[in-house]
Amino acid sequence: MAKLNLKDLNVTGKRVFVRVDFNVPLEEKDGQMVITDETRIKETLPTLRLLIERGAKTILTAHLGRPKGQREATMSLRPVAARLADLLGRPVAFVDDCIGEKVEQTAGALQNGDVLLLENVRYYNEEEKNDPAFAAKLAKVAELYVNDAFGAAHRAHASTEGVARLVAARGGQCAAGLLMERELKFLGDELDKAPRPFVVILGGAKVSDKIKVIDRLLEKADTIIIGGAMAYTFKLAQGFKVGQSLVEPDKTDLALAALAKAKQRGVQFLLPIDNTVATPVVTDKLNKKGKKIIDLNNPRTNAEPNITDSEEGVDIGPASAALFAKAISTAKTVLWNGPMGIFEDKRFATGTNAVAQAVVDATQKNGAVSIIGGGDSVKAINKAGLGSKVTFMSTGGGASLEFLEGAELPGVAALSDK
Ligand code: 3PG
Repeated sequence: MAKLNLKDLNVTGKRVFVRVDFNVPLEEKDGQMVITDETRIKETLPTLRLLIERGAKTILTAHLGRPKGQREATMSLRPVAARLADLLGRPVAFVDDCIGEKVEQTAGALQNGDVLLLENVRYYNEEEKNDPAFAAKLAKVAELYVNDAFGAAHRAHASTEGVARLVAARGGQCAAGLLMERELKFLGDELDKAPRPFVVILGGAKVSDKIKVIDRLLEKADTIIIGGAMAYTFKLAQGFKVGQSLVEPDKTDLALAALAKAKQRGVQFLLPIDNTVATPVVTDKLNKKGKKIIDLNNPRTNAEPNITDSEEGVDIGPASAALFAKAISTAKTVLWNGPMGIFEDKRFATGTNAVAQAVVDATQKNGAVSIIGGGDSVKAINKAGLGSKVTFMSTGGGASLEFLEGAELPGVAALSDK
């Protein structure tokens, strides 16, 4: 059922409790935490500007990282408040807690159009447990509830779900923010009535992470393209040798079932026909997690369907990139989720970049609707400098995947029906 939208609410003079996803990457530079990608903050600006324009008293809540109930200083939202104030061109108040007297006093003193950001809700374990008493403490300052945190809407936590239920129980309205509405439109409605041909590109490491999405999209798409390490599980299922490639040998039955379903439904199913391979060598160097770093040496194009025992597939090859680009060029709708290889290493980003360019070409030259389903594909397309040239990029990671699988997101389910 359609959910209430921020535009349906009369927010003037009301304390509006807004859950946003400000879970942005931060890096320590000269003793300061610096935001390295502010996309999620920028994407909430339309919602925040509308609230300000309409004279709401806006109280923002968010999580940052996974501090597991500890006041972890590197996960404070304070730097986000400062950046948000710059972006809005007005002050943003900050309280170093998300519940309690100080929050209630500051929220009570807000004037129409003011914005307040509360400290990381995950400094309390009760947040992730969706503890009712904690949700009641959060909800104390809320007259209306808005959820603009699509990226966290798959979590049934106190600030994403519990507070909405409490506000609704006492007669307050709970609505989707403008970003939430756009996410649900592009990853939901637009794909349900996608102009054809509808081409889906899925990449990433594991078949097990994506099998539900593959299964659901096999019912909607004309073409499914598979890249990334997950393609090697499909190749293994087809009887090819995959060498040292990342595979899930226990998931080959799922891969075969997907191939059979594609055949039965007449969906074109494209797998890589060549690869870039490299030789993995375990070194004595340790990464941040204390694990031995594996170097990938002697990269080369492998035109054979089989990979040698000592080598690992790390990207799709040039023939696959051309094959995929040709299929993408026919699309009127493209959905892309997951990279084609280890794109973080620029030696192995060629396939991912080729797909990014093909998606942009389909958008710009054919007028295709292009939807980038979050996570690594958004990172990859931004890294290639092509972010502004697609129709929509999701701010969700896990949330986008669950929504594409057809799951009802708890953060959306808790909102008021229209
Ligand atoms: C994300 O980054 O995907 C969201 O903010 C959710 O974060 P989580 O996976 O820690 O719940």
